[in-house]
This record gives sequence, C-alpha cells and structure tokens, in this order.
Amino acid sequence: MTISIPRIRYWSYLEEYSAHRDDYLRAVDSVFSSGRLILGQQVATFEDRFAAYCGVPCAVGVNSCTDALFLALKALDIGPGDEVITVANTAVPTVAAIRATGAKPAFVDVEEDTFLMDVTQLDRAVTRRTRCILPVHLFGQMVDMLPLREYANRYSLSVVEDCAQACGATYNGCRAGSLGDAGAFSFYPTKVLGTFGDGGAVTTSRPELALRLKRLRMYGMENAYYAEEEGYNTRLDEVQAAILNVKLPGLDPSVERRRRIAEIYDDGLAGIDGLSLPAVREGRSHQRYLYTIRTARRDELQRYLAGEGIETKVNYPDPIHLMRGYRFLGYAPGSLPVTERLAATILSLPMYPELPNEQAAEVVAAVRRFYA
Ligand SMILES: Cc1ncc(COP(=O)(O)O)c(C=O)c1O
Repeated sequence: MTISIPRIRYWSYLEEYSAHRDDYLRAVDSVFSSGRLILGQQVATFEDRFAAYCGVPCAVGVNSCTDALFLALKALDIGPGDEVITVANTAVPTVAAIRATGAKPAFVDVEEDTFLMDVTQLDRAVTRRTRCILPVHLFGQMVDMLPLREYANRYSLSVVEDCAQACGATYNGCRAGSLGDAGAFSFYPTKVLGTFGDGGAVTTSRPELALRLKRLRMYGMENAYYAEEEGYNTRLDEVQAAILNVKLPGLDPSVERRRRIAEIYDDGLAGIDGLSLPAVREGRSHQRYLYTIRTARRDELQRYLAGEGIETKVNYPDPIHLMRGYRFLGYAPGSLPVTERLAATILSLPMYPELPNEQAAEVVAAVRRFYA
C-alpha cells in the first residue's frame, strides 16, 4: 500500500529538523559523550530554564504529560474515593491520568466559541467528594482562571492545569502552569514545544510539592535504593532534555509564526456564512497550537479539502464521556450538549510554524471555493 502525502500537510517537523539538524545532533552527542545518561545536567538545566519561562520556582521533568498529570494528582494525595472536575472535550490522556490515581472524573461542559471549560458550570459538578479542578488549556488558549481559582479557594479544592496544548499561553500576563497548584506539560513532537520523542514536566510554585514529585518520578526515592513512599519510573530523558534545551529559545519566535498563520486564516475566512472562527478572549494570549473552525458541513468540507490535497483533522471526533472505555462513568448522550455538538462540527486546519504563508492562503482560497 502506498501512503499518499497531502500537498499541504496539517503538521510536519521535517522542515524544522533540516534547519536545525546540526544543533540537535550536537546536543544528542553531548549527552552520549557526557558519561551520565539519566537525570543529569541536561534535565537539571531544562528544569531551571523551563520554570523560569513559565514564571514559577520549580519544574520537574517527567516522561509525558499523562504522567505529569498523574504525578501531580498523586502528589496532592488524590486517589480512590475522590472526584476531579474536568472536561470531556479534551485528549483521552487527561481523563486516563485521573483514572490512574483511582479518582473519578466529573465533567462540566465547555464554551462553544473557545472550546474551553465553562467555569460557570462548576457548581453542577461539585460534590462532597470533589478534591480538585483540572482545567484543560485546549488548542493554545487558557481557561478563565480567575473565577476558577476563586471557586477552588472557596471549596478548598486543588487546581492542576493541563497545559499540554498551551505551553507559554498567558492569562492576564501569567503563563500557563503558574496559576494552579501544579501545571502539566507535554513535549510530544506535535506540541508547541515538542521534542523528538516523549517528554513532559510538572510546574509548581510549591517547593514541597516539587520535592515530592521528584521522589514519585524515581521509585519514591530521595536517596539511592531507599523508597520513602511508593513511586514510579517516569523521568524526562537526558537526550530529550538536551533537545528541549536547544528548542526552548525558539519557542516564542515559533509561536509568532503560528500567530501570523492564524491571522491569515482569521482575515481570509471572516464573514463566511455558516463558518465560525475560534474566539480569543480579552486578556489571554493564544499560542495557536491548533486553529479550529466550526461548521455544520464539517465532513463535507473535510472531504473537499482532502480532494484539494489539504490535510485537516478533527480534535476530537468523540467526546470522552461517550467513549466505550468510559461508559462506566454513567454519562448519557445529551448530558454535555456543547461538547457533543462541537465533536460533530469542528475541524482543525493545517498549523505549524514552517507552514508557508502561501499555503495558508491556499487553504483559505479552498475553503472559500467550497462555500462559493
Ligand atoms: C490536552 C492534553 N492532555 C494531555 C496529553 C498527554 O500528553 P502526552 O502525550 O505527553 O502524555 C495530551 C496529548 O495529546 C493533550 O493534548
């Protein structure tokens, strides 16, 4: 079977790799030659720099965002019998991480135009067992954190931010990962700060939590061969950390490129009847991880664009509360109406920093032809 590559790809790292290949290979070689392959200087350096970037005192490197969420919840002593409020309009790992602790996710609906947790609905999900709110800063924009924090403080709930898609995004000038008890990040290749494999980090302003996270990521040990508590093996790899150290200074310029592409989409697609563009709220900077439009003719439009050689994706076609794997949670169809409507109408357009302006303009032209 031959796989046909679309003319305009949804995402690609190859252009970026060929531009910086020598830097990456030098970084990998420096690890291989260092004599220290696990939790060495590269991880320590990245943790310091990433914490500074996020505006927090501590960052702890782990092997994925799924594990970052899981460890953050564990470090906050969340487990069986507890409930964590989150959204079903997210990637499966958000919910998988909650379940891995033994806690139960409780879903609230989302805002239709930003796709983000509707914090006015927290009251509907809170119970005696609620211990934590887990907002997901989806597609590159942060959730409305001020009312969320006020709500959490009122009921003494912890807050763990899922920052997988919003590294560097801000809310009233504060970066993602700096407004909760902990923030969980993904460095999966497609992310705004992506490496060449798996990687993740937890940020926190609470040093005692950072110490516990360091223990939990390394078999529960502070010193060799002695477990202070039950722990896990989920460390950020030295090689991935070395690559992240090369990439971090390029994060903001790469987001500027994403914003330029989003402008081309915003300007070119405005005013089309039946097509809605993603909303950005006042006081928030959007990282443009994804550019997601809404249309009742989603499947038809996606097929049309594929025919024009333009790759698109649906993030996400199935809301988690209705997936077979999570039916046991007991949510019926219709229980999260906005989430369910979005799953049927959203479409993400090509978006990555190296996407040429001309290709973004071609996407605009093709969408306009579809609606002409
Ligand atoms: C919102 C969200 N949370 C968590 C994750 C999990 O990230 P990782 O693949 O690093 O475990 C992802 C990754 O797709 C994500 O998009």
